[in-house]
Amino acid sequence: MREMIDMEFFDLIKNRRSIRRYKSQSVHKEDILKILDAANWAPSAMNRQPWEFLVISGELLKPLGNSYKGVIEEFISKMENDSEIISSEKFVKFAAHFGGAPVVIVVLAETNEDPREQKAFLESASAAMENLVLAAGDMGLGTCWMTGPLRDESNLRRILDISPDKEIVAVTPLGYPDETPHPTPRTEVKNKIKWIGW
Ligand SMILES: Cc1cc2nc3c(=O)[nH]c(=O)nc-3n(C[C@H](O)[C@H](O)[C@H](O)COP(=O)(O)O)c2cc1C
Repeated sequence: MREMIDMEFFDLIKNRRSIRRYKSQSVHKEDILKILDAANWAPSAMNRQPWEFLVISGELLKPLGNSYKGVIEEFISKMENDSEIISSEKFVKFAAHFGGAPVVIVVLAETNEDPREQKAFLESASAAMENLVLAAGDMGLGTCWMTGPLRDESNLRRILDISPDKEIVAVTPLGYPDETPHPTPRTEVKNKIKWIGW
């Protein structure tokens, strides 16, 4: 079994970065389908596969970007430190156009009155989201898993006509990266593990 381990997989996991600047180059529909098929193969509670994907391009990206821009501007307006405000201006640029990405994907989950079921649905859809970002990365495409846009949720629901029986899980731009971000730091995993009964 050991010989079957594919090291490229681990490289992909470690080298994936959140991308906030994209080329305008379009993404083929077949490639998007391939990525979403990988997302659809995620594990899910009771195999309920409670996710759905909205794949947005064209004119609707404008009101979507405006919505997220508003979220970021409000966030900045509460900042006090000047240097923070300057670096945040770059973020406003990213937010307004999702960094120039030609596609934005929204992952939805089913809702349930039972909070335990609801939690399992959210976790399942998050597993799909992780498959999505990794599959995209494997194909040379960038993503940025985002929940910030949900701070303007009612607007998001109105723009995308999302019914109340769906939960918005995450939003991501999808496109060819136009930046190579530095690796983001991680706390050493050994500080996160409690070995029990070893
Ligand atoms: C649940 C979740 C929510 C996130 N929300 C946002 C967001 O609203 N905006 C954003 O730019 N990045 C967002 N991120 C990306 C994180 O900032 C990023 O994953 C983290 O800083 C580590 O960087 P890396 O993805 O490049 O390794 C989010 C990531 C996760 C998993």
